Amino acid sequence: MRTFFTVLAGSIAFFLTVAMFGTAGWNKPPLVTTQNGFRGTAMAQVETKAGAAENRDANIAPAAADPAEPGGELAGKTYENVQVLQNITTNEFNRLMASMTEWVSPEQGCTYCHNTENMADDSLYQKRVARRMLQMTQHINSAWKDNHVGGTGVTCYTCHRGQPVPANVWFTDPGPSARSGIIPRNNGQNLAKESVGLASLPYDTLTEYFANKDIDNNAIRVNATTALPTSKGKPIQDAEKTFGLMIHMSQGLGVNCTFCHNTRAVADWSESTPKRTTAWHGIRLVRDLNGNYLEPLTSTFPANRLGVLGDVAKVNCTTCHNGVNKPLNGAPVVDAYPELAGPVAAAAETAPAPAPEPKPQ
Ligand code: HEC
Ligand code: HEC
Ligand code: HEC
Ligand code: HEC
Repeated sequence: MRTFFTVLAGSIAFFLTVAMFGTAGWNKPPLVTTQNGFRGTAMAQVETKAGAAENRDANIAPAAADPAEPGGELAGKTYENVQVLQNITTNEFNRLMASMTEWVSPEQGCTYCHNTENMADDSLYQKRVARRMLQMTQHINSAWKDNHVGGTGVTCYTCHRGQPVPANVWFTDPGPSARSGIIPRNNGQNLAKESVGLASLPYDTLTEYFANKDIDNNAIRVNATTALPTSKGKPIQDAEKTFGLMIHMSQGLGVNCTFCHNTRAVADWSESTPKRTTAWHGIRLVRDLNGNYLEPLTSTFPANRLGVLGDVAKVNCTTCHNGVNKPLNGAPVVDAYPELAGPVAAAAETAPAPAPEPKPQ
């Protein structure tokens, strides 16, 4: 009997060991390491070659549409109800409508946003949302060009990827209901949640940092700045929230903490990479989009698009980044769509040519 159990335990251990190599937690070599700090600081990204290739292939920008025929009347003249794109030509307008359909509703087509009996009709909520999305896209590419989105920029495809609802949006999490089961008394804390990397960290983190207009600009900073505790010190709960946010940011970009921090002195900006500054602006960008574009659309959306608390679907780092440090691998997607680079102003009235300066005799 004893021998039987010994052999049984031995074989179970053997098979578990074999299984371990083939399943979770085991990164199959070869690995690729990208260094982004000084030598010896261990500031590097370590990925499997296969994982890196898979991630790259999942983030390819679609080919841009052929350029529009030059010239022609302005869309604001041709059509009845154009409020954002009135100053581009009708050809450019139609080309953009075709691309928007590819980016947002390829299966549903124009009818996703339009009543085809009357294209000027605004009765579908999708069209009213899309009009605001056009303004949001122009705003991202102009107001946030220098501090965040650079030459890469965004189109509808950056977030939508061929779907009316982007794959990565979020709602305020109501927390576990007191009646719902085995762990009713956790004060909203320490349940593993996907939004914080399946760690047991506070998961209301995103609402606090990404959808709170009154947030203090230093709310995320938790490291003590004095050797001994002072009355200004922050509680451990704040550190947990910061950590939850950092895990979200790392996952959204597909990087680890050393992409931005030197972990020997996490708070020290002088030892951080320049990417941390870009990320700082990214946090403010997300707040801007949620507070000024998505939240005001709450009543435009039908109830089935809202969260359990009646809040609108919101943006986070993953909505644009989708697991890579530069969305769509950094392809300069706006170049082929200058009308999305910023609000298009009316061309100045063609003034009569100034009279030539009298020549000195
Ligand atoms: C994702 C939503 C969306 C899709 C899909 C879409 N459109 Fe539009 N369309 C809009 C919005 C928003 C406007 C108004 C733009 C503005 O106010 O500047 C508009 C306006 C128009 C107008 C001007 C109507 C008028 O008289 O005011 C035409 C024409 C048009 N679209 C054609 C199309 C065609 C053709 C397709 C399919 C190839 C299409 N659209 C697909 C959102 C969409
Ligand atoms: C920064 C990311 C982002 C960009 C860029 C973006 N969108 Fe959106 N869009 C969202 C989010 C978030 C929602 C809300 C999701 C939902 O509808 O529940 C949304 C919703 C929509 C909807 C409503 C879909 C539905 O059925 O509820 C339409 C239509 C839409 N967007 C069109 C566009 C168009 C057109 C563009 C480009 C001009 C664009 N979006 C650019 C993030 C984005
Ligand atoms: C994409 C860049 C980026 C990544 C990745 C990142 N962080 Fe951060 N981190 C920041 C930024 C930006 C701030 C400052 C935010 C602010 O001041 O508003 C910050 C702040 C912090 C702070 C607070 C510092 C202080 O001043 O008290 C801690 C702690 C921290 N991060 C830990 C981490 C950990 C742990 C990870 C990995 C799980 C991580 N970070 C990943 C960008 C990043
Ligand atoms: C509206 C879309 C959008 C959102 C939302 C967004 N980003 Fe970005 N981010 C971009 C684009 C586009 C770039 C590429 C900029 C470039 O090419 O210089 C970028 C670049 C970055 C970079 C620099 C990467 C590098 O390799 O140099 C960091 C870091 C970053 N984002 C962090 C964040 C964080 C953290 C968040 C959430 C708090 C966030 N971003 C939200 C669009 C976005």
